[in-house]
This record gives sequence, C-alpha cells and structure tokens, in this order.
Amino acid sequence: MELWFVLVVAVAIAIAASYKAVDRYSTIRPLPLLLSPPVPLIGPFAPNSLLLTHLHRIGDGLLPSPEDVVVDAQGFLFVGCSDGWIKRIHPKSDFVEDWVFLGAGHSPLGLVLGRHGELIVCDPDVGLLNVTKDKVEVLSQEAEGVKFMLTDAAAVSMEDGSIYFTDATDKYPFAHHINDLMEARPNGRLLKYDEVTRITTVLMDHLYFANGVVLSSNEDFLVVCETVMARCQRYWLKGEKKGRFEIFIDRLPAYPDNIKSDGKGQFWIALVGARPFYMDWAMRSPFLKQLQQVLGLTDVFLKRLNKRALVLTVTEDGEPLRTLADPTGDAIKSVTTAYVVGDNLYLGNLGENFLGHVKLNKTI
Ligand SMILES: *[C@@H]1O[C@H](CO)[C@@H](O)[C@H](O)[C@H]1NC(C)=O
Repeated sequence: MELWFVLVVAVAIAIAASYKAVDRYSTIRPLPLLLSPPVPLIGPFAPNSLLLTHLHRIGDGLLPSPEDVVVDAQGFLFVGCSDGWIKRIHPKSDFVEDWVFLGAGHSPLGLVLGRHGELIVCDPDVGLLNVTKDKVEVLSQEAEGVKFMLTDAAAVSMEDGSIYFTDATDKYPFAHHINDLMEARPNGRLLKYDEVTRITTVLMDHLYFANGVVLSSNEDFLVVCETVMARCQRYWLKGEKKGRFEIFIDRLPAYPDNIKSDGKGQFWIALVGARPFYMDWAMRSPFLKQLQQVLGLTDVFLKRLNKRALVLTVTEDGEPLRTLADPTGDAIKSVTTAYVVGDNLYLGNLGENFLGHVKLNKTI
C-alpha cells in the first residue's frame, strides 16, 4: 500500500473518533452557515491603505477598547471604554476626562444622544441606559418576556423620541459573544423603546447577531446589521411597506458592526475581522466550529482575522460608494464604528487604546 493511502485512512479514523469527543466537550451547538461568497474586491471594494496613511490617534493610552463614539452639540466626544468608564473628550484640546463610571467589569457598547441632551448607552450586560452626569437610569432589560443578554447599539428618533436598539443575542453574554457567532443561530432582536409608555416592543426577531442600527434621514426606515451573515437588513417604519423588511446590503467582504449616518445621505458601516474563503468554509462546519472551541483556538483565530481595519460608505439605498482600509492593522485594527461629524471621521474599535481620527479632505 502506498504511504499516502495509509495516512489518509488514519486521518479519517482519527477525525471520526474525535467527532464524538468534540461534540461532548464543546459547549456550543452550532448550525452550518452557508453564505453567498463576498462581493469581488473591485470598484468601491478595491484594496487601499487610506486609513493606514491618514490616521491620527486621540486619547492614546487612555481609551481602552472605545467601541463607540458620539459627539454632542458643544463638540464634546463621548466614548465608552472597557474599564467601565464613559469618557468625555474636550473639543480642540482632545483632553480626556473620566465622565461617568458604570462600574468595574462593564464594557459599554453603542452610544447615541437622546433628545434631551442625555446619553443613551447600550451596556451589554445590563441593558439600555439613560446616562447623565449625575444619574444612570436603566430604561429597558427585556421585551415580550425575554431578557436581553447583549444590548448592542441604538438610534434615537428626533421626531418622537423612540429609541431603536438591538439585543445581539439572548443566549450569550458579551464576554462569550464569539460563541454566538460560531453557533450562527438567530438569537438577536431589533427593538423599540417608547419614551412615553416606557414599554419595549420587538420589531424583528430571529436576527443573526443583531449589531449596529441606524435611522434614515427622514426616519422612514431603519437599517440593522447582522454580523454573522455579513449583511444588513432594512426595516420600514413608514409608507406602504411599513412593518416589512428586506435585504439592504449583503455579501459584505467582512463582518458589519456599527452603522452610522453622516447626515448627508450616506451610511458608514464598520466592517470587523476578515472574511477569507477558509472562514466561510469553516463556518459551514459545526464540527470545525466546535473543534476550535475545544482546542481553545478562538483567540488565535480572532487575532489573525482582526489584524486589519475596513470601513464602507453606502447610499441610503444600499449602493456601495467606497471603502477606507488599513490592510496591515499597523495604524488601527478591529474598527467597530465609523462616525462622521463635519469633516472628521472617528473610528471606534475593540482592542486598541485610542480613538482613531481621520481628517476628511479632498484626497480622502
Ligand atoms: C433621561 O434622563 C433625563 C434626566 O433625568 C431626562 O430628562 C430624560 O427625559 C431621560 N430620557 C429618557 C429617554 O428617558
């Protein structure tokens, strides 16, 4: 017998034996995930190094994992950090101030301004918060009898004060959100908090890791990103399609996180990680997903896949316009938020300890 044949048989037997063992020791119960391949990397998706060459740091060393950022009417930037602090950055001087402490172990995610100058904060382990300098109030922790596990992102209607937000998953806490991505089960929801009745209702359920959410300029629809599906959906709030939803953009070349409006008819989508062919291939296999968990390889993979940054702009019709990238991750990696105010682009992230800043001018 040829040696290669013996090897193939031996490997096959080993895999069959490990199959059962892996299923026993793994704590996740993944489904196979079959995605259409990503769009070709041409046109708006053509590789570039715009973020690598134009990035400045704000609050270097002072802002651990600043996942999201928002600016108020006075020009102060607010950033949620993994040390439990909401930090406030002064305009012009970039002075970083500890503003409100949510508590040790808290890692605030989505931030958005309320209609009364308050900060609406998604604390993944607590729920939807109303934060002012001297008060932290819990607005919502469950909807229709199901408790949130990973409150993720929010958008506020300027018309009626409704707060639209996401619970990425009702199964796993933020600390284990990778398990939810690996399982690829629709545990996420798009929610609406009514400021007057204080009741939270469900707009969409069965979402695959419901992440960023944004309102259109005239508040006639929402867009919600489903990280694990590499797509975003549109949910109609007004008009003849009210209450219906459809694909807004899919086949993204990486995994969408937060989505923001620049107020000028464009949405900015932060794409985290990478989506190489072998990632799509591995996501199809429940066995491989359990195996990497049992072998403790998750962090190794994530480090590899997150070694870059990618930001995409689209029209309010979901037409891709262009991307800004740092393919090396040397300037910034794992960008979770791309937030534009005037000609400033701010980049939130998980893993760096600064906020990225790019001055948007004629060349970028
Ligand atoms: C948040 O709290 C402030 C101060 O108590 C209050 O004025 C505001 O209406 C609250 N916002 C929401 C959405 O409940």
